[in-house]
Amino acid sequence: MERIKQHAIWGHRGTFVLAATGSAVGLGNIWKFPYIAGENGGGAFVLMYLVFIALIGVPVMIAEVLLGRHGRANPIHAVGKMVRQSGASRFWSAIGWSGVLAAFLILSFYSVVAGWALDYVSTAARGGFGGWDGASAGAAFDALLADPWRLMFWQTLFIGLTVVVVAFGVTKGLETAVRLLMPLLFVLLLLLLAYAAVAGEFVRGLAFMFSFNPADLSWKAASVAMGHAFFTLSLAMGAIMAYGSYMPGKASIGKMVLTVAVLDTLVALVAGLAMFPIVFATPGITAGEGPGLMFVSLPVAFGNMPAGALFGVAFFVLVTLAAWSSTISLLEPCVAYVTERFGIKRLTANGLIAGSAWLLGLGSVLSFNAWADVSWLLGMNIFDFLDFFTQRVMLPLGGLLMALFVGWVARRDLLQHELKVEGGVLFGSWLWLLRIVCPVALLAILLAGVWAQFAS
Ligand code: PFF
Repeated sequence: MERIKQHAIWGHRGTFVLAATGSAVGLGNIWKFPYIAGENGGGAFVLMYLVFIALIGVPVMIAEVLLGRHGRANPIHAVGKMVRQSGASRFWSAIGWSGVLAAFLILSFYSVVAGWALDYVSTAARGGFGGWDGASAGAAFDALLADPWRLMFWQTLFIGLTVVVVAFGVTKGLETAVRLLMPLLFVLLLLLLAYAAVAGEFVRGLAFMFSFNPADLSWKAASVAMGHAFFTLSLAMGAIMAYGSYMPGKASIGKMVLTVAVLDTLVALVAGLAMFPIVFATPGITAGEGPGLMFVSLPVAFGNMPAGALFGVAFFVLVTLAAWSSTISLLEPCVAYVTERFGIKRLTANGLIAGSAWLLGLGSVLSFNAWADVSWLLGMNIFDFLDFFTQRVMLPLGGLLMALFVGWVARRDLLQHELKVEGGVLFGSWLWLLRIVCPVALLAILLAGVWAQFAS
């Protein structure tokens, strides 16, 4: 009972949407989506991605929010409650554990990459992109990765920013932060879109992202699109469940989840539409650059365009804000668990967890330089291993278990009560998507991900 009394509720109705969108919108939307869309055939990829968001992402997200709100506790206790009330095997409690553990692991390396964006804000602000070409931009990026002290500095600063927000708690910290950050993020994004339309090759950018060629509908592109649809919605990592647990009882889960999915998708599309025209406007750099698109091609473009310094700063501030609202959602479920389980103060739990994530993150920092060739983790260095294990294994596995548990095992009346329905076509469709479509798709992502890693 004590635990339930302590658990916070968002002060405003719409906060869940802002907070969950903040979690969902991150490096995945701005850094990853544009380049994987570029690599996998533009329009065909975008189409598959949209289908997977709707058919797999949304149903699983509804299940995850439902578990959180029903449990009104951190992910581990929330899943445990539904497991007990459904008289199910304790095996299913693994869903909560895996979520919190994944959140912790992702926090450790995500803040290292987010730190790169902070470094680029500082370079852009000093006018540092001026006159860059492909070679000098590549060299500058390599120099950043080769310097562990510089990486550690930005990683520490980034985790510090996250800790400050989480320290203030759910309503004073998280809620205030997302209510300020998210509108700012949307404004910056629209500003960059306008800049791309005026100063960039907008029509070429549009054509690149949406030109549809049926030959591009490949299995490989499908598995990349499916995996990304899951990652970008922050599913199966405790974050969305924790945010759902703060959702007021009256709010409609289905409507809120749909809004989050639409906003997340819009941000990814607009990020692509803002980036490609800028890249196309600069001769000598390519759009199919892969991971270097944001940290190599884009700075070259900014360095050679009118008012590029200003918009370069705006762009990397945007990336930083997006990543920040995501790391907040990774730290929160861990802190909620430790405070609720051990009854210790939020400040103490926050310090302990963030400190441990920082320490583990040093392994990722060193993976780009001194420990780059370490290969005792299934042939990978620490960063690559954590990235692989969380995104390719824990995420689809956690999602698979969650879909099976909510679809087949959890008590039907509890689900209906939480969704405020008594059956009906929508409820039935949701249930069958969870029972059959999602597990099959998630199993495919799991197998394809592991296969891709070891076949190469
Ligand atoms: N959805 C975030 C992105 O697209 O960058 C990443 C993420 C954040 C994943 C929070 C998981 C999570 F819990």
